[in-house]
This record gives sequence, C-alpha cells and structure tokens, in this order.
Amino acid sequence: MYADMAALSVYLMAALLCYVWATQEKSVLKAREKTNVTLQTGETLLNAESVWTFGAETPNMRIATIMRGKEVKNDYGEIFKDRLLIDHHTGSLTIIQVKTSDTGKYQFQSIGTKILMRVFHLIVYSFIPAPSIAISPSVCNSSSSSVTVECSVHNSRELMLSWYRGKESLKKTSSPKLTTLTLSLEVDPSYGDNYSCVAENPVERKTTRLSEEDILLGYAENSSWCQNEATIRLIISAAVALVLFLLLVDHIRL
Ligand SMILES: *[C@@H]1O[C@H](CO)[C@@H](O)[C@H](O)[C@H]1NC(C)=O
Ligand SMILES: *[C@@H]1O[C@H](CO)[C@@H](O)[C@H](O)[C@H]1NC(C)=O
Ligand SMILES: *[C@@H]1O[C@H](CO)[C@@H](O)[C@H](O)[C@H]1NC(C)=O
Repeated sequence: MYADMAALSVYLMAALLCYVWATQEKSVLKAREKTNVTLQTGETLLNAESVWTFGAETPNMRIATIMRGKEVKNDYGEIFKDRLLIDHHTGSLTIIQVKTSDTGKYQFQSIGTKILMRVFHLIVYSFIPAPSIAISPSVCNSSSSSVTVECSVHNSRELMLSWYRGKESLKKTSSPKLTTLTLSLEVDPSYGDNYSCVAENPVERKTTRLSEEDILLGYAENSSWCQNEATIRLIISAAVALVLFLLLVDHIRL
C-alpha cells in the first residue's frame, strides 16, 4: 500500500513536470530585430519577490530582480545594458531594440502569495534586405527566347528565397549554412514583368520585381551574344576554307 502511494506520487510528479514543460513551451515569441518586445507575466505582484533569468539554451543568468513590487535591481551587465524596462506591478519585461543575440529562453519566477513561473522562448530575426536580381551571363540558345535571371540575398535565420510569377510560386530555396542564398530562373519574356523574387522569414517579407527592362536587356544580350557567336563561326569557317584553298593551290603548283 505504502509502495503504491510512493509510485503514485512519483507518477503524479512526472505528470506535473510534463505539464509544466508543455505549458512552458507554448510561449514562443518571434520578433524582428530592432523592435521592442514585452514578455507579459499576466499577473499582479503583491509583496512578491521576483526574478528574471535568461540563457540561450537554459535560463541560468539572472538579469533582473524585483523586490516587493517596488525596487528593481538589474544585474544583467553588458548584454542588456540600458535595454530593459520592468513593470513594477506585473513584473512584465520589455526588451528595447532586440538583437539577434537576444534569442533564447527567458524565465520569470515569483514568490509571494502565489508561486509563479513563466518561460518565454524569444526568437529574434534579422532585418531582411531587398533581394537583388541580376541577369545571368547568357549562353547562346537560338532555339529559345528565354533569359536566365538570378536572385540573391544575404542569408539569415529561417530565410526562404522564392521566385513567383503573379501569385504562383515557381521555385524556392533555403539553407542555414550559406552566407548568401541565390536562386536562378529561366524567364519567358512574354509574361512581361509579372515575375518577382521574394525573401521571407516568419516575421518579414521583402519583394523585388523583375522589371521588363531587365528582361529586354537580358534578351538583347542573349541575342547579340548569339549573333556574335554566329559571326565568329562564320569567320572561322572562312579562315579554314582559305587555308584549305591555299594548301590546294600550293599542291597544284607542285
Ligand atoms: C522602444 O522603446 C523605447 C524606450 O521606451 C522608445 O524610445 C522607442 O520609441 C520604442 N520603439 C518602438 C519601435 O516602439
Ligand atoms: C535551349 O532552349 C530549349 C528550350 O527552352 C531547351 O530545351 C534547351 O535545353 C536549351 N539548350 C541549351 C544548350 O541551353
Ligand atoms: C500580369 O499580371 C496581371 C495581373 O495579375 C495580369 O492581368 C496580366 O495578364 C499578366 N500578364 C501576363 C503577360 O501574364
């Protein structure tokens, strides 16, 4: 009987921990670099002593202490220097001008009339520059009127680069390891300027449209390259014919 009770309490404890863990994991906040982010406790503190801790993986570094809802002590050192605001009544923490290095777990613990614990997982995304479009060096293809264009953007967390024609997504790429994402596309000039290259992460989206001028320029380059190639081929065959002719004349003379 006693053993059963012990087993039951262990079981209940495990279930409780699972529950705490599950509820903790739900507070995921995603923010763009250089915005202000507030971690809301949703409580009113009465005569409580509270502490905020932070860590990239585990929140083990103390960043602020609130004594009896009045006195706030910051012990965050250089990382959050002049960037934290604390609401004395609720304990809510505002981080000013978040940086990508602020990404991590923030834990709020409070002991007063109630015991509280909240964990927030903050993910800060880099500002996305507008993707740039360049016309790829053309390869002569006289059987096709297409132009190859290449879109590129500086890579950052969870960034996805895509080509769209109107609202239709044609192709996309993402890779956490590269410093620059690039994606090339063969465009059909008859679709005009309906192509766009989009760079996006969960909090921001930047679009660059492919202008008709770009396509025409690429197309002109492609055809002039093809023409040049045809001219070169003509010159080479003329030269070969001339050499053969001279050899023949030489042969006859002998
Ligand atoms: C962020 O907070 C600071 C300090 O309160 C304020 O000066 C700034 O305007 C806020 N920025 C935004 C984008 O709300
Ligand atoms: C030329 O364009 C045609 C039609 O788009 C394509 O099937 C072919 O593979 C291209 N050839 C080369 C050498 O790129
Ligand atoms: C480009 O998009 C516009 C608006 O979506 C559409 O009306 C037009 O027909 C499209 N042009 C081409 C050549 O597909």
